[in-house]
Amino acid sequence: KAIQSARWLGTPIDELNRLPQCAPPLSHLKPAHNHSVMIRTDLLREGELPVPYPTKFRDAWDDVYVKMPCSDKNLFPVETEDGGLQSRWELIRTALKRGFKSCLDVRDAILRYNITHAKKWDFTALNLLCTELLWLQESRGVMALPGSCRITNYHLLVPPGRFMISYLEHCEVQSLFEQVLPAMVNLALSAPDVCTKPIPLLKSQRHHSLTLSQEQIACLLANAFFCTFPRRNSRKEYSNYPEINFYRLFEGSSPRKIEKLKTLLCYFRRVTQTKPKGLVTFTRQTLTHPPDWESSQTQLTRLHITCDGTIEDDGYGMLQVDFANRYVGGGVTGHGLVQEEIRFIINAELIVSRLFTEALDHNECLIITGTEQYSKYAGYAESYKWVCSHNDETPRDDWQRRCTEIVAIDALKYKHFLEQFLPEKITRELNKAYCGFHRNNANTKHLSAIATGNWGCGAFGGDTRLKALIQLMAAAESGRDVAYFTFGDPHLMRDVHEMHSFLTGRQVTVGQLYRLLKLYFNEECSDCHTPATKDSLYSFIHKKVSTTSTSETSGAAKNSG
Ligand code: AR6
Repeated sequence: KAIQSARWLGTPIDELNRLPQCAPPLSHLKPAHNHSVMIRTDLLREGELPVPYPTKFRDAWDDVYVKMPCSDKNLFPVETEDGGLQSRWELIRTALKRGFKSCLDVRDAILRYNITHAKKWDFTALNLLCTELLWLQESRGVMALPGSCRITNYHLLVPPGRFMISYLEHCEVQSLFEQVLPAMVNLALSAPDVCTKPIPLLKSQRHHSLTLSQEQIACLLANAFFCTFPRRNSRKEYSNYPEINFYRLFEGSSPRKIEKLKTLLCYFRRVTQTKPKGLVTFTRQTLTHPPDWESSQTQLTRLHITCDGTIEDDGYGMLQVDFANRYVGGGVTGHGLVQEEIRFIINAELIVSRLFTEALDHNECLIITGTEQYSKYAGYAESYKWVCSHNDETPRDDWQRRCTEIVAIDALKYKHFLEQFLPEKITRELNKAYCGFHRNNANTKHLSAIATGNWGCGAFGGDTRLKALIQLMAAAESGRDVAYFTFGDPHLMRDVHEMHSFLTGRQVTVGQLYRLLKLYFNEECSDCHTPATKDSLYSFIHKKVSTTSTSETSGAAKNSG
């Protein structure tokens, strides 16, 4: 009975390693052949604004660096007699400098330097957000009541079938146009003074780190908001990169977009009021020598599992898993609003990774250290709501980065349930997770625990029980403990805890477990035509381990493989 009402099981969470306590001191921050640093490291001081390096804007217009909107090479054809070319940055400057009285002015400005998209881009969501009207949505469409008819939320009786989309208060709209947007324009236009060094693209199969200041990131994101990044609006040159310009955030009338915009505008309000003074590092990590899973002698590490809380709130100081898309950020600039997209909008600095991170391959991940949380939220997906501004008090490390380490790992998307039990798929997921968790040359004593949950088991359709085992195996192989958040599922909490206790009690190694997974596929899934297997994975493992001695299990799995 006690177990039935438990909200967590396993090792108490306070016994797991967290940053900054668990980590040894950092070496001095300095640029290296595989680490680009965009600021003056010699001038880096706690509480002081980092100084961009070099002093003067240095341009690069090639396939190695991000093409900047303020580049001299950013040109567009003008309809003059001689058919000349004009600086697009000049056009951007004049368009944005004219000021905005309404969101129509924002739209007009953006379209002035994105003429080819004028007919396609739609700004309904931005319009809805800024117009001081009360919107009621009916199944047939959207009905607006003029401001003068406004009734407060509390007095309004919303009939069935209608619901209210939140809107901005009069003073919020006023502050948006008078303060926030003009400050965002200045921030965007500061690009040639703030982002002076060419930003390397983090390309496929290249291990590389990039450290930027939070101010530089804010400047780049303001440019993304105003859709100034060249060559990024069609799937050509950057087809293997995520979208960065925000135009899709403005389209449609879905309440999701309104809430996403509120969250992002909270970020821009915050960073334009007070410049954040820290740094953020983005590391693309590739796994060149995957473990030999079959012969691993590693034992499982410790597990804390809970049906309460979230990765971001309760996993502070741990390596927090982003349930990613191979295009990092997934649908953050579009319609998506599940784990990854939510994390990207509340910790908005994550979004800038889309500017330079090429789609992740099977053996790659992106590690982001130092982002700050600017918003609190409630709900999830359809019910997501921006709640309020969040004051992040996470301590900073010696490189002035918030001690928040997030790792983007993209699971495989499954259409058919049984597919994920194929040994090659299991190996792929193991290697992907291991790539995210493993740290070269690290003393595992100093590694933080991993804060994770139902990776790949929502939008991507994976099986939670299999994925939990896969993550436990990869964590063990990387020498790290696990804090697992089941996101409100007490049954999953009990099952995974029970399996973990059983496996550790019997000292089952990662290698044995891997062979058992293969055996499960061969015996229970390979000739199944129905979506459900005969026996559940956990009861299969239970039976095999209980009835066979360890050596027999390994032999049987090898023979059938
Ligand atoms: N903390 C802990 N667990 C969570 C949290 C949280 N904050 N949020 C959600 N969960 P999903 P996927 C649980 O669907 O299947 C995005 O578009 C919850 O149980 O986001 O890997 C990406 O860009 C949820 O059902 O991850 C990819 O395109 C489960 O985690 C795609 O979705 C899975 O969350 C990835 O889909």
